[in-house]
Order: sequence, then structure tokens, then C-alpha cells
Amino acid sequence: MWHKNLLSLIGKTPLVQLNAVTRGVAPTVLAKVEYFNPGHSVKDRIALKMVEEAEKAGLLRPGGTIIEATSGNTGMGLALVAAIKGYRCIFTVPDKQSREKIDALRALGAEVIVTPTNVPPDDPRSYYSVAKRLAQEIPGAFYPNQYDNLHNRQAHYETTGPEIWEQTEGRVTHFVAGMGTTGTICGIAQYLKEQNPSIQVIGVDTYGSLFQKLHETGQIDPKEIYPYLTEGIGEDIVPGNLDLSLIDRVIKVSDRNGALMARKLARYEGLFVGWSSGSAVWAALEVARELSPREVVVVLLPDHGTRYLNKVYNDAWMRSQGFLEPTSELTVSDVLRMKVRKTPGLATISPNDPLRYAVDLMQRYEISQLPVLEGGKVHGLLTESRLLEVLMDDPHAKDHPVRQYMVESPAIVLPTTPVDIVSKMLSREMPALLVQLDHGEWDIITRSDILHTLLEVQK
Ligand SMILES: Cc1ncc(COP(=O)(O)O)c(C=O)c1O
Repeated sequence: MWHKNLLSLIGKTPLVQLNAVTRGVAPTVLAKVEYFNPGHSVKDRIALKMVEEAEKAGLLRPGGTIIEATSGNTGMGLALVAAIKGYRCIFTVPDKQSREKIDALRALGAEVIVTPTNVPPDDPRSYYSVAKRLAQEIPGAFYPNQYDNLHNRQAHYETTGPEIWEQTEGRVTHFVAGMGTTGTICGIAQYLKEQNPSIQVIGVDTYGSLFQKLHETGQIDPKEIYPYLTEGIGEDIVPGNLDLSLIDRVIKVSDRNGALMARKLARYEGLFVGWSSGSAVWAALEVARELSPREVVVVLLPDHGTRYLNKVYNDAWMRSQGFLEPTSELTVSDVLRMKVRKTPGLATISPNDPLRYAVDLMQRYEISQLPVLEGGKVHGLLTESRLLEVLMDDPHAKDHPVRQYMVESPAIVLPTTPVDIVSKMLSREMPALLVQLDHGEWDIITRSDILHTLLEVQK
């Protein structure tokens, strides 16, 4: 069985439960992971629909040109569909877009015109105006106009909405999605509310965009419209796809919170997603914190993280924006540097030494765990809590070898291991971790060492 081309692979994306970033929240939170589409974003769906409808209506004929004002993902979808169907593509893209997105469009054979971001939409240099002008000038041009083309919304009404309803077996109670052209949120909301009118739909907006104010007051406040960094969500125009009656609440998410959440999704869930996916999950968690375990929150993740490697996933760039806390960059070597040492070197014990040597060492230096080493090789870790258990049970244990009572495979980390990973590895059973240094040397870090470092850094 094979696919005749990539087009039949668009849609039917998986719904995946979030488990780590949702710790402490009661409801089930499920992510609709749209990077499984062949162009790695949700926009493949609307690209296919808008092109197919244009073909049906005679607006796009063989040899025709597709011209669109796109922030990248719609361009990617259109370029992919055009490559397969044999159309030419020209895209106008605002200059705040990631370099990677523009290069990817060119890789698929599209022509890309980069336009200034910080001009009003009606300025002749804006990406909307340039696309409109080209569409009028070039014969055989089709301007899909994802903002006002209602096939955008319709694509989600016909595909994404039913998929979410079926994948949750009708159990979805809340749906959260970013608002850009609003085709995604409005198409899905319409379908879901038709199945169950009590489903709550929450839109995700950025600071600097008009949606939240428009939803709450029906007004556009020009003072609240200003440049921001998050790509794909927020607008300075009202898209034709927007139907505010389908949206129950709008939450604004800062550039920083969206970016940091995207990084967490990659690190703790293995979901290497784009910036607006981070914003959507940040908002979904705000919603989920108010709900009970009976509820099911579905959040849509629009695209893949590779398009943001030079921004969200680049530590130097994140630091230059002031988005990274000093603590989020700490590694084990920082903890070792700041560690308060009670012993001159690392206190260790051999596996065949009697337990009483260990008791003696631990009492003398007031330490709670001892690495068990021999010939530079780690054999285990002896912990105070285990020692207490053993000596309560058997007073003769003191004469038995340490190897009988040690934890046999202690966790080992490197000086470069990030502290946030290390702190997740520590537990009551594993109160310390061994650090493998160069030249066969070892060191140890404990919870209190990490706490000490955090407190020092935050001073
Ligand atoms: C990365 C990303 N997230 C979210 C959205 C918002 O989706 P919609 O335009 O359907 O509102 C877009 C749309 O451009 C996007 O590219």
C-alpha cells in the first residue's frame, strides 16, 4: 500500500497526552500535534483546501501562479501543494520571520519577497499590500488570501474538528488554539460546538495584538497594537475568518512565556514544537488549573521546532531577549563549584570494607551518603537512610561488608548536565548523584548542594 503523492497524508494528525508540563493540574490535557503534516504545520490543511476550491471555481488553471501574504507556514503548505500540482508560487513574508522559514519556502521552489514588519497593513510596502498588488499585476494569478478566504475555516470544520471529536470519543470539554487568521480556531470551534454546545473554546493571543480587546469590548484599541515577536499568532487586522461568537475566552501570552513553554515541551515531552505551540500550551495550563479531573482539554500545536532553531531554541538569542533566567542555564559544574565541602577530598569507601568504617566516616564528616569506589570504578552508593534501616534490624551488620547494603547502580551525571534534569533524577531513594569527572575522578552532588547553588544564584 502506498500513497500516490503527499496530499493524502495531510491531516489525521495524532492526539497526544501531555504528562510532564501538566504536573499538578487535574484535567487530562491532550495535544493535537500538527507537525505530523507533510509540510510540518497545520497550514497544509488549508493550503490543500484553498487550492482545490480555486481549481473547482476556475480561479486557478494549469500554469497558474499562487501569490500569498504568509508568515511562512501557509507558504510551506501552498508550496508543497503547488510543487505536486505544478503551479508557480510567490510569497510575501514580513522581515521578522525566521530565516529558516524563508529558506524552506525557497527550497520548495517558491519565490519569496521579504517586506518590512513595522508598517501598517494599508502601507503599500506591507506584506498584505505587496501580495495584493502582485496578484493584480500577474496574469493567471490566484491570491488565496488565507485571512478572508472562508475555505481556511472550512478546512478545519471538515477535517481537524471531526478528528478531535472522534479522537476524544466526544469527551473534549475545552479547546485551546492560537489566533492568527483564526481559521483554525473558528473552523474547529464551529464543528465541536455543533456536536456539543457546552464545549468551551479559548483563543490564544499575543501582547501587541487586537483579539482580546476586540473579544471583550467589540473595540480595537490602536494603543494596544504594537510589534511583538511570537510568530503566527496575533493580528493588527480583523480577518474575515473570525467569528467571535464561537470563542468563549481569549488569553494573552507573552513572547517570553510562549518561548519558555516551547522549550519545556521539547525537553520534557519530546515535543519539538514551534513558538506559538508554547503559547497555546501556556494558555491551556491557565485554563486547566481551574478545572476538575473529569474535564478534557485539547490544545492545538501548529508547527515544528526546526523553524525556530535560531530563536526559541538558541540560548544566546534567548538571553539577548532577556528570556532566560540565570537558573535555567545552570549545570552540574556550577553546583560543584559552589558546593560547601565538609571533607578535604571526596570521602569514599570500598565495597569490601566493613560497614562500621562507613558509619565512622559519615559521623566524622556529617555526610549522608558515601560513594562506594574501588580502583577508580563505581560499585555503588551507601546512603544514611539505608544504614539506619540495616542497623535497626541487625546490630551485627556493622561487621558485614558495605557491598551487601549499598545501592548498586547509582545515577551518574556529567559536569555539563543541566541542573533542571539533575533535580528531576533525585528522589528519596536516590538522594545523591555521582559526577564523572575527567581522568577517572569522581564527585558527588546532593539535593542540598543544588538548593544551595540555586539560593546563591538568586541572591
Ligand atoms: C506557527 C503558527 N501558529 C499559529 C497560527 C494561527 O493559526 P490560524 O491562522 O489558523 O489562526 C499560525 C498561522 O499562521 C502559525 O503559522
